Amino acid sequence: GRVAVLLGGQSAEREVSLMSGHGVLLALRTRGVDAHAFDPAERDLGDLKREGFARCFIALHGRYGEDGTVQGALELLGIPYTGAGVMASSIAMDKVMTKRVWSAEGLPTPRYVCLAPDQQTHQQVLAVPDELGLPLIVKPPREGSSIGVTKVKGYSQMQDAVRLSASYDPDVLCEEFIEGEEVTCPVLGRGAGARALPVIRINAPDGAYDYQNKYFTDTVQYQCPSGLPAAEEREIQRLVLASYRTLDCRGWGRADLMIRASDRKPFLLEMNTSPGMTGHSLVPMSARAAGISYEDLCVGVLALATL
Ligand code: DAL
Ligand code: MG
Repeated sequence: GRVAVLLGGQSAEREVSLMSGHGVLLALRTRGVDAHAFDPAERDLGDLKREGFARCFIALHGRYGEDGTVQGALELLGIPYTGAGVMASSIAMDKVMTKRVWSAEGLPTPRYVCLAPDQQTHQQVLAVPDELGLPLIVKPPREGSSIGVTKVKGYSQMQDAVRLSASYDPDVLCEEFIEGEEVTCPVLGRGAGARALPVIRINAPDGAYDYQNKYFTDTVQYQCPSGLPAAEEREIQRLVLASYRTLDCRGWGRADLMIRASDRKPFLLEMNTSPGMTGHSLVPMSARAAGISYEDLCVGVLALATL
């Protein structure tokens, strides 16, 4: 049947989603799938039903796309869709909620303080570095692609960082900075069939792994295969698979982590339930290292579409 590739949407990551979605659309068509672009920012989701779409490939990122809302609408319409269900999508969209779930399961994630709008007074903001140390990370808990993120190195930067983050999300997440290496690891499949793909090591100049450099420059170097010792790579994959199962993810996802330099301990930062599929994105890079082409990846994720 006809497949709708949901792309665009109304989040701050709209531009990224358009790149992801057009990549997916082309790949599915190359493989003979009757795929069509569908932008929920411009169309009524009910049209999916009226126009006889049998399945949806969700290539939306961020709010109203990756957060369980579109997933819930598709549940009501009875149209199978790719990736995580309503609950996993909505928990994973919220980095604070995700940390709570992981912590309850004993999975390592950096310490944090979340400031609600009424906790963003000068005094409360300046108390955060005392608790978490410096540098620290300030970010909107429900955003992606590094939007609104600041690495704060001194007290004088705190207020601006909180203001920037709060312009995207009223709650502000302040997180302990883990000095070390950034890595990412995708997962494909569901339940007992879920498998972690090769780990990617991200080498960026300090503070340069931002929105612009994620998508529009070649400033950041990626290493996949990672070159990490085999035992360390396996340990990260095991941890990522556990983090995926704990959130009840399915289909696919990608966890971002830091490996602490002092003792090589990995810390989970977040789970992306609708990972980027742009030319600069990481799941396609890792899949390629595992012998899975971009087209195979798209067809494989689509084949796992479910209600
Ligand atoms: N949020 C972006 C799309 C990613 O994680 O790939
Ligand atoms: Mg993200």
